[in-house]
Amino acid sequence: MYKELLDKLYKYHELSYLEYLELIKNRDEVRDYASLLASKTCMKYYGNKIYIRGLIEFTNYCKNNCYYCGIRASNKVAERYRLSKEEIIECANIGYDLGFRTFVLQGGEDSYFTDDILVSIIKEIKALHSDCAITLSIGERSKESYKRLKEAGCDRYLLRHETIDKNHYELLHPKNMSYFNRMECIKNLKELGYQLGVGFMVGSPNQTIEMLAEEMVFLKQLNPAMVGIGPFIPHKDTPFKDKNSGNAELTTFLLSLIRLTLPGVLLPATTALATIDKEGREKGILAGANVLMPNLSPLGVRKKYLLYDNKVCMGEEAASCIRCLKKRLSKIDREIVTDRGDYALMNRVLERE
Ligand code: 5AD
Ligand code: FES
Repeated sequence: MYKELLDKLYKYHELSYLEYLELIKNRDEVRDYASLLASKTCMKYYGNKIYIRGLIEFTNYCKNNCYYCGIRASNKVAERYRLSKEEIIECANIGYDLGFRTFVLQGGEDSYFTDDILVSIIKEIKALHSDCAITLSIGERSKESYKRLKEAGCDRYLLRHETIDKNHYELLHPKNMSYFNRMECIKNLKELGYQLGVGFMVGSPNQTIEMLAEEMVFLKQLNPAMVGIGPFIPHKDTPFKDKNSGNAELTTFLLSLIRLTLPGVLLPATTALATIDKEGREKGILAGANVLMPNLSPLGVRKKYLLYDNKVCMGEEAASCIRCLKKRLSKIDREIVTDRGDYALMNRVLERE
């Protein structure tokens, strides 16, 4: 019966809320079958190719106070840093030589980085590396600001919605953060033509499987270019320090459901997944993920960009991390590709076939 639901999802790429819920509830019975169908789908669209995105964590200053996050403003123990424009460019140059053609500039909501400063950074990276895509992941901004950044050459934007349930959103965030504003930002980014990435944590405090079924319905309707999900992992200096971590099995099962629902989506096996399970990346890929986001941030600041405890690959130079990933991927018969991996382009090719 659950297998039939998966067959239906494999064929039509959509289920009802109640069908998703049934599957998530009974995932232990169909985990392997879901993985199999998701890998098959991923292979059909992408072959054995895995896309890499170079992550540059350029500031850990943040004005927000999300209860789960290690760089929340009220964490007085966090050592703050911000990379200069030159340091950011240097990270991109190193990444370029290693074969990266996408740079993800991620940071807290840091008002130091005005539109003018960001525009000049984007323009400079684009001038040096015109064949690269730039992704920003710097939280909520005005539509006007998103527009300026897009016009400067930014191609993609990652803004996880964190949870589709408004009440749950309010349990994860302080009162001055608004679910409505978050959703408005996502809508604006989409309207402006960004390749949009959204996502949520798996197993965040008070999350229910009903909410996860809702997530699937929401993702289908939004149809984003990318979906980032990873397990919640507590950070010792946050209000959620004593909460339980999310689990790898549920995360990989959801990766499979997302792959089957949005067959051409870009789906990372996240660092958080690698952190709670030492084979998390491999398991994520075998469940349907097709993107890895190794860290290009300078070693000196790595340990300061801690959203959760025990993050992996903290001491690895980007070059050795890439070597390690290549070796790991070859064991599961996958390989890294170095093109930009644009969602629209790839999906157009697929439509033609
Ligand atoms: N555990 C797992 N993921 C986290 N994030 C923030 N804090 C944590 C945590 N404690 C995720 C959020 C955010 C992304 C950058 O990292 O989903 O959007
Ligand atoms: Fe980063 Fe192995 S994946 S060092």
